Amino acid sequence: MKANVTIHRDFTISPVDDRLYSSFLEHLGRAIYTGIYEPGHPTADADGFRGDVIELVRALDTPYVRYPGGNFVSAYNWEDGVGPREDRPTRLDLAWRTRDSNHIGVNEFADWCKKAGTKPMLAVNLGSRGLDAARNFLEYCNHPGGSYWSDLRRKHGWKEPHNVKLWCLGNEMDGPWQVGHKTADEYGRLANETAKAMRLFDKSLELIVCGSSHAGMPTFPDWEATVLDHTYEAIDHLSLHMYFGNEEHDTLNYLAKAEKLDRYIMSVAGVIDYVKSKKRSKKNVTISFDEWNVWYHSHEQDKKILEGDDWPDAPHLLEDIYNFEDVLQVGGVLNTFIRRADRVKIACIAQLVNVIAPIMTETGGPAWKQTIYYPFLYASLYGRGTAMRAIVDGPTYDSAFGDDVPFLDTSVVRSSAGNALTFFIVNRHLTETLDLTARLDGFPAARVVEHIQMSHPDLAAVNSAATPNNVVPKTVSGSTVEAGVLTSRLPPLSYNVIRLS
Ligand code: AHR
Repeated sequence: MKANVTIHRDFTISPVDDRLYSSFLEHLGRAIYTGIYEPGHPTADADGFRGDVIELVRALDTPYVRYPGGNFVSAYNWEDGVGPREDRPTRLDLAWRTRDSNHIGVNEFADWCKKAGTKPMLAVNLGSRGLDAARNFLEYCNHPGGSYWSDLRRKHGWKEPHNVKLWCLGNEMDGPWQVGHKTADEYGRLANETAKAMRLFDKSLELIVCGSSHAGMPTFPDWEATVLDHTYEAIDHLSLHMYFGNEEHDTLNYLAKAEKLDRYIMSVAGVIDYVKSKKRSKKNVTISFDEWNVWYHSHEQDKKILEGDDWPDAPHLLEDIYNFEDVLQVGGVLNTFIRRADRVKIACIAQLVNVIAPIMTETGGPAWKQTIYYPFLYASLYGRGTAMRAIVDGPTYDSAFGDDVPFLDTSVVRSSAGNALTFFIVNRHLTETLDLTARLDGFPAARVVEHIQMSHPDLAAVNSAATPNNVVPKTVSGSTVEAGVLTSRLPPLSYNVIRLS
């Protein structure tokens, strides 16, 4: 099977915003407690943060981590997580039916971010609370001193402000499961007034308003139109979420779900353009895809806790164990974001540690990389710069989510400095090798630096604490550039990173 790709030095899509490789940590299951924070763990530092986890996060170079939720934030009192630990209340978390000691709050999270080489992206509670709690939280976090809330932070031991620039105005407010769920009009008005108040404090903040929780929501896409009608001039980004699963055990349909993602992004981009025109606005609102990942492996086992009355502390929740097939899906999702880099400026893999996460830990034991760690790592390392327009001429298939799905799924990024060019490619074909020919117009000196590949005879293969290297990338040979043409052979069901310079 053959596929031809053409790229041209001058045919670009858009700069890729580094924030496309952001992530998310929620007070949920073992994400915070025994995920990033486990006093007494052999690798824990003086603050109780796991050093092994910090090392794995640092390697990902994820620019922002969204916090503290998620559904959790919609009934969260941020004040519970600040001040002396011994005075912090243990609360019931209504979203995940667990208890939270509040031993980690915004100050500790900001410290952890510094250690992990990332920055906080915070969410305010617009479910059970509103404008007042949001503006106080902002003042507590960002004001240097000399006011009630900033002086309280200083008294708590954090003299310097956290200077958080990215703020989410609530979470999934279209969802009936959300504490404080609202209609689009109710939420739109509240979000607009909250945004206005937050901007009165600091005009330079970037504010993110809630779009739909997923493309199947009955209120989609009217929700976006109404919410943006209220908020267009006050906010910067519209938040979208989407999770992927292969409940049907149908690989081709599973991998075609990236097409659904693409349609979702483009429909929402259309709604943004519509509201922009309606308002005769000069402003561009972009998309913050601040929750995405594969999420389905753990659904069954989670029912016991989510439907029970035990209210456990930091239980095993949403602990999807990812397989090799999920590498292909995550690779395809990242390709979609890169191809839509003109509309999507922020994206957060949900989540980062233990909870639907690329990094897993054993309480008291090791931390390891799940299979999906790798495509996220390579996109973050080599997917920064400018997204190139790639014209693909190759075989396609029809799926439940759309026809003409290309077997060869690719995105191409040119680095900002130098001439590095990286092809991220998933061969979705179940049985056939793809013979790739890529014409590189305007890159006369290009040569292959490295071809990284992930393939595995077993789609269900996973990594674990005992076998952390079962599904890992390898460097392969055989890709060459001659006379400005890249040729490569891509095995069936493989993920590939071909780096040129
Ligand atoms: O990431 C897990 C959950 O998925 C989040 O709490 C919520 O926002 C979404 O429904």
